[in-house]
Amino acid sequence: MAPPDPSDSAATFDPLDTATRSEIETMLERAERSTGHPPLSEPSRLAWAGQGGNLVGLVLRSVGRVTGYAQLSWRDRSWTIEIALDPSDDPAAVPRRRLLEAATAEAEGRGASEVRYWVTQHTDDDETEVEALGFRTERDLVQMRVPLPLKGPTPPLNEGFSLRPFRPGHDEAGWLEVNNRAFATHPEQSHWDLTTLMARELTGWFDPEGFLLCESRGRLAGSCWTKVHADRAPALGEIYVISVDPDFQRLGLGKVLTVAGLNWLAERVSIGMLYVDAANAPAVELYRSLGFTVDHIDRCYLLERR
Ligand SMILES: CC(C)(COP(=O)(O)OP(=O)(O)OC[C@H]1O[C@@H](n2cnc3c(N)ncnc32)[C@H](O)[C@@H]1OP(=O)(O)O)[C@@H](O)C(=O)NCCC(=O)NCCS
Repeated sequence: MAPPDPSDSAATFDPLDTATRSEIETMLERAERSTGHPPLSEPSRLAWAGQGGNLVGLVLRSVGRVTGYAQLSWRDRSWTIEIALDPSDDPAAVPRRRLLEAATAEAEGRGASEVRYWVTQHTDDDETEVEALGFRTERDLVQMRVPLPLKGPTPPLNEGFSLRPFRPGHDEAGWLEVNNRAFATHPEQSHWDLTTLMARELTGWFDPEGFLLCESRGRLAGSCWTKVHADRAPALGEIYVISVDPDFQRLGLGKVLTVAGLNWLAERVSIGMLYVDAANAPAVELYRSLGFTVDHIDRCYLLERR
């Protein structure tokens, strides 16, 4: 890690050694408790835990304690930055700007042609600050929630289709094929491979009973994979990944699968949750029709360098 000048005598950029890692871990947990939202995305958390993906970490220390952490990941020349801050710092804007500048310089120094910066629970104040560094808004990821159990009738499953739970060790290849077809143009959800899927199957939250597959004559038509966040307050039940094969879209299966997933979650939690791209009109329309409303927005900023 090339430590840029923090331009503050009280602040330093530290290497990511074992003791610092444990301080960061504690700060990440405190930040999540304080905001009710994980400061790092799931792929970044998995990379942090050594379960896949490249990472570079920048640690900002001030007056002897870790005040912020920037995690960078990359694929080819495309880099992504996420930043977590100590929730006890008020205002946290200074360490964040410093970390963002340092992380951007780090990515550029390693040949990045584009740098993305994700802001969780975005506010208008973030915009001014991030745009001042040359970033522009690229896309919004919306977290939507719905009280469970759902009001209204459960839509019937189409004739000739059936639902069953995912079978680990048996359904991976078929599921990956449909996932990658349905999400062909999606930046994070396309190009999943067995390693990406297995990293999730090996987590403590993975439950194949809450991973529903919809088939027609033995062919996979769609799926709804749920995830219970039992450690969140309040506990949340997420529609984690949902897709319908393009050959079977607009037949009502997306609605049937979403409701089936939410019904399964309703036996465990009282709030349903999901993330959806603001620009994904079919999915947003489907979720709104079931009573989902916006909880908050995570915004992706982009800086392009040629
Ligand atoms: C989103 C998705 C799961 C919907 O599945 P589907 O089986 O095509 O949807 P349904 O036929 O059940 O439609 C249910 C409702 O969704 C909305 N909808 C679905 N497709 C739509 C479209 N192309 N345009 C506008 N609204 C649409 C409508 O409100 C529809 O209700 P209606 O038929 O009464 O108008 C499917 O389009 C898909 O797999 N997309 C790619 C993966 C993806 O984006 N997943 C969601 C990530 S959060």
